[in-house]
Amino acid sequence: MATRGYFTWNFLLGMALVLDSVWIVSSRRARYSVNKGFRINADLHQVAFFSAPKMTSIKCAAFCCLNSECGHFHFSNVNNSCYIFKEEVWFTPSRDLTADPNWTTGTLLNGLIRRGSWFLVFRGQGRIGVSVKETWYDSSQQDDKPWRDDFPQACLRITDYSQCDRHFRSHILDSWTNIGEVHFTLVKDDVEVAYILFDGTGSNMSSWINKNRIISSTWSPALDNDPDIHEPRISGHCGHDSCRQFRFYGSYGFCYTDFLYTLTIDKVQDVCNEYGQWKPQDLNTFPVFYYSNGPGRGSLGLDQESLGYYEAEEADVMAVWVKFL
Ligand SMILES: *[C@@H]1O[C@H](CO)[C@@H](O)[C@H](O)[C@H]1NC(C)=O
Ligand SMILES: *[C@@H]1O[C@H](CO)[C@@H](O)[C@H](O)[C@H]1NC(C)=O
Ligand SMILES: *[C@@H]1O[C@H](CO)[C@@H](O)[C@H](O)[C@H]1NC(C)=O
Repeated sequence: MATRGYFTWNFLLGMALVLDSVWIVSSRRARYSVNKGFRINADLHQVAFFSAPKMTSIKCAAFCCLNSECGHFHFSNVNNSCYIFKEEVWFTPSRDLTADPNWTTGTLLNGLIRRGSWFLVFRGQGRIGVSVKETWYDSSQQDDKPWRDDFPQACLRITDYSQCDRHFRSHILDSWTNIGEVHFTLVKDDVEVAYILFDGTGSNMSSWINKNRIISSTWSPALDNDPDIHEPRISGHCGHDSCRQFRFYGSYGFCYTDFLYTLTIDKVQDVCNEYGQWKPQDLNTFPVFYYSNGPGRGSLGLDQESLGYYEAEEADVMAVWVKFL
């Protein structure tokens, strides 16, 4: 056993304790939300077990901290047993903990960005020259596991983000389980200007983008009932002359009759812009997030007004949040 490491962590963890029923324990490697008087009742994968007469909840937290797989632990003071469980991002304390005075529970916070019960899984910044679709699927990029202290705060915000130079990608994308709802939002000038809320039950990291899963949106009911929309997809059409992703889009053929609810241009070129059939767009940088600024179809095309389409505007940021079941 790594005795030195064990006591070092114990000391660091002990220093940060606040004696209350709920503690936040901090160390350089991990942050836990600790609940005294609760045990875990979810079906979690146990990765280690320790029992010793002098075991305490603080030592149990230290063992969790030393185990790279640990995301949750609980400790019984009746038989001095410490159980270490694998991290599950869907773990929800209000549902998965049961009051029991003989137990103490800890859950790794791991830098997850949350807003109430919503967790940020992806945040794309416009015009930084990096593909959002490729970043979405790049499992080697996990900005929150371990949490990188140098990750720019501007790239986690939906206001005051002018200094942001990269996309944020959570490790939640790589363990897309127990997802209840998915919230896709677009932000312009520090304001959320458009959204689509999806039922994510039983989905994977690609299939949640689906017309049949829409619960509500900025464009409902027009979007939900639009018969001409192509199958909404993260990976839309990406070829040598155009690259259109995260698409809610319709009618290929004539650029000027094409319409969109939201569409991401993921490369420095689009054939409709090249042929001068769109109102001229600056596509010298990408990604560019477009959205319809009215309650129905929007368009970049020259015939936008005669077709009764709304203006397509550019958002600065796109973000995807999830709520667990
Ligand atoms: C310790 O006690 C709890 C009940 O309080 C029990 O669930 C657990 O199995 C016991 N552990 C051991 C190792 O006996
Ligand atoms: C807690 O442990 C005591 C024995 O130390 C036992 O009598 C009691 O029933 C336990 N409480 C619960 C809720 O299991
Ligand atoms: C995601 O789900 C869709 C539809 O159920 C399926 O076609 C696709 O193969 C799945 N993708 C992965 C990576 O499992």
